[in-house]
Amino acid sequence: MNSAAEKQAAGTGLDPEKLRADFPILAQQVNGHRLAYLDSAASAQRPRVVIDAISHYYEHDHANVHRGVHTLSHRATDAYEGAREKVRQFIKAGSTREIVFTRGTTEAINLVANSLGQTFSAGDEIIVSELEHHANIVPWQMLAERTGIRLRVIPINDAGELQLDVYQDLLNERTRLVSVTQVSNALGTVTPIQEILAAARSRGILTLVDGAQAIPHQPIDVQALDCDFYAFSGHKMCGPTGIGVLYARESVLKDMPPWQGGGDMILTVSFTGTTYNELPYRFEAGTPNIAGAIGLGAAIDYLDGLGMAAIAEYEQQLLHWATERLRTIPGLQLVGTAPSKAGVISFNLDGIHAHDLGTILDHQGVAIRTGHHCAMPVMEHFGIAGTARASLAFYNTREDIEQLVTALELAHKMLG
Ligand code: ALA
Repeated sequence: MNSAAEKQAAGTGLDPEKLRADFPILAQQVNGHRLAYLDSAASAQRPRVVIDAISHYYEHDHANVHRGVHTLSHRATDAYEGAREKVRQFIKAGSTREIVFTRGTTEAINLVANSLGQTFSAGDEIIVSELEHHANIVPWQMLAERTGIRLRVIPINDAGELQLDVYQDLLNERTRLVSVTQVSNALGTVTPIQEILAAARSRGILTLVDGAQAIPHQPIDVQALDCDFYAFSGHKMCGPTGIGVLYARESVLKDMPPWQGGGDMILTVSFTGTTYNELPYRFEAGTPNIAGAIGLGAAIDYLDGLGMAAIAEYEQQLLHWATERLRTIPGLQLVGTAPSKAGVISFNLDGIHAHDLGTILDHQGVAIRTGHHCAMPVMEHFGIAGTARASLAFYNTREDIEQLVTALELAHKMLG
């Protein structure tokens, strides 16, 4: 399909063919083939503007933040705090006091487990779901080992949807936190997050949303969601690796104990006692990832320029089209068939180990992820070791999907 037709088909004002030119990495051949990058759920690619923002910072403005009186330190601080304001606007938080920079989603969830978790005690319960990434399971298991809290799990059905009736039964007076993903990284299921959050809030239970796989695909409004915590990573939304965000409702965050000690998170230190800094700095010990935050700010500007609603619409069209194309491949089973999905198609091909499939596809220039996707309970539910997973971003086109389909047909002929 040519660019004009694709644009028309999308009807969103986005021209993905043209957008690809913003991403230098996509203009290469891999193993003698055009690169079809279908692994954005693992990590998205960066547009030139993000790479340039980081280079510019290092070439002109780098110094430590919040510490120096000199010009470069002021510039670095302004750029770092400017990025925090961009994040605030992007997720529609009320205040930058609610935006804590972390290394990523994983560290954001660990922050809550290690800080808020200090206030939990034996017998308290945390509800997660069977769809969760290990990052939203293991920190709670570690907390359970330390404190005796209990982890309760919302099961999924065979389409990969959460069983909400069971969730309602799990909620009780011992539930302290509901921590659930908005989009499954392994299956792409979009969970009914509003309903999940509303049920918890009506009982006064705190809520955390793992937004790592949602934020690249749709507009996010934490005030409309009315969640207490929202965690996400920069690298899944065209920003750098090693930077992420914990949004935390100020009224909750202000009473949470610090979890990492060091510079920047204190006001005064003496051997008779230490006083802690104000929000959000109390939760950002040590020199932060300044360049990462600035790169994330540039990614937000880029995404805002495209419009998250337009991205969502285009990706939904591509997802439906790609799903139908994959259904035509003999011996291919889709894993995860929820009606509401975002950006991910997981599948297996009869008789071919997912890793072998990934290797064959790579030889055809097609990059996908294979394995358990750090979501082993999901694989256990389906009784499989793993899947092949193609994941989409707005810079993917039907040409990428056709390349995937052709490579899968080849794999089927070779090994199926
Ligand atoms: N969580 C990332 C993925 O799903 C790494 O691939």
